[in-house]
Amino acid sequence: METTDRATTNVAGSVTGNMLAGGHEQVSWFADPGVGLRAVVGIHSTALGPALGGIRFWHYRRDEDALADVLRLSAAMTMKAAVAGLDQGGGKTVVLWDDPKAVRSEAFLQSLGRAVEALGGRYVAAEDVGASQADMDGIAGETAWVTGVDPARGGSGDPSPVTAYGVLHGMRAACEEAFGSPALAGRRVVIQGAGHVGARLARLLMDDGARVAVADIDPSRAAATGAEVLDADGALTAECDVLAPCALGAVLNVDSIARLRTNVVCGAANNQLADDAAADALAGRSIVYAPDFVVNAGGIINIAHEWAAGGYSSERAHAAAARIEATTRGVFELARHEGVNPAKAAAELGRRRIERDGQGRPYLPGEPSLMREALLARRERFR
Ligand code: NAI
Repeated sequence: METTDRATTNVAGSVTGNMLAGGHEQVSWFADPGVGLRAVVGIHSTALGPALGGIRFWHYRRDEDALADVLRLSAAMTMKAAVAGLDQGGGKTVVLWDDPKAVRSEAFLQSLGRAVEALGGRYVAAEDVGASQADMDGIAGETAWVTGVDPARGGSGDPSPVTAYGVLHGMRAACEEAFGSPALAGRRVVIQGAGHVGARLARLLMDDGARVAVADIDPSRAAATGAEVLDADGALTAECDVLAPCALGAVLNVDSIARLRTNVVCGAANNQLADDAAADALAGRSIVYAPDFVVNAGGIINIAHEWAAGGYSSERAHAAAARIEATTRGVFELARHEGVNPAKAAAELGRRRIERDGQGRPYLPGEPSLMREALLARRERFR
């Protein structure tokens, strides 16, 4: 099965069987022969509010592969939002997009926008792999239920700086857990991936006095950070205090974990663990793992500031992302208390948040929410 990160969902059975197993509320397929649109929207949970999640444009061989991805990714968004303390649920769209170089027409984006609109605000779109702000602006002509639009029209812009800032704070908590001090000065940190988040993280860490080494399959990107450059093949096994995966998912499996030479794993990449055994393997080697969806929540925290009082402010979004440090500390405390690994503890924190603050039933179109009012209010700017 071909999926964008890893295939954990068995979609061989019925669609509804998979939805029941994963706790998904809704899966909606959209097709528009006029423009060649093929897409599926997964709404995992709206117990805490409308389901926010990115639109991913990707090549899938079969519909089943797209379905597996949308089920897995939408469920992860629920947990990310719940643990981050946001009043929103988890959703995702995957668009079956065969040629990454193909340009999306205005008509295509309008059709996709109408698909999002048809869900009545239960799902709110954002950028994901393969998408850009231009896609969000195109969609915004047809629906209010979209974020990450042009900052001049109320959007929150590139989320990467806030994501990196959140990872930095998660890393402080992880270092405290591993070494007894949150200080990053003097720590050797290896970053895999010098993209939007990795490069920014490298800069923040160097400002804090950390000894940073960076690896990227494009060495010029690693070099541009000004940090020590490592060979991309050796990054995962380089000796360090902290390993920060900021490239691909599924880099940590039982085999790769056996070869790690780090005390801490804390990075931005989504779905770093290839499977459930990976979290136990890390704990078995006494490597402190800061769960990815806890420390990389800065991106959705940044988006959530689009409907914060007073409108979007980068300063307030950064301040909120700094609280990831306390959240991550809470994950380690619960893990110790319950005798489980941090990945399980983080999932438990998410479950408890939904139980405590959720309404115990799905969000319905038209029900009031801060997000809804703010997105409706700015709709006029796109007409
Ligand atoms: P990006 O696409 O800008 O950067 C990824 C970088 O990794 C690229 O420079 C690429 O050349 C490099 N790379 C790919 N394979 C590699 C390998 N095997 N070894 C070393 N480098 C490799 O992506 P971005 O936005 O920086 O995101 C990084 C990760 O963080 C992704 O997994 C993403 O899903 C996740 N994430 C990003 C957020 C954001 O705000 N951008 C928010 C939450 C998660």
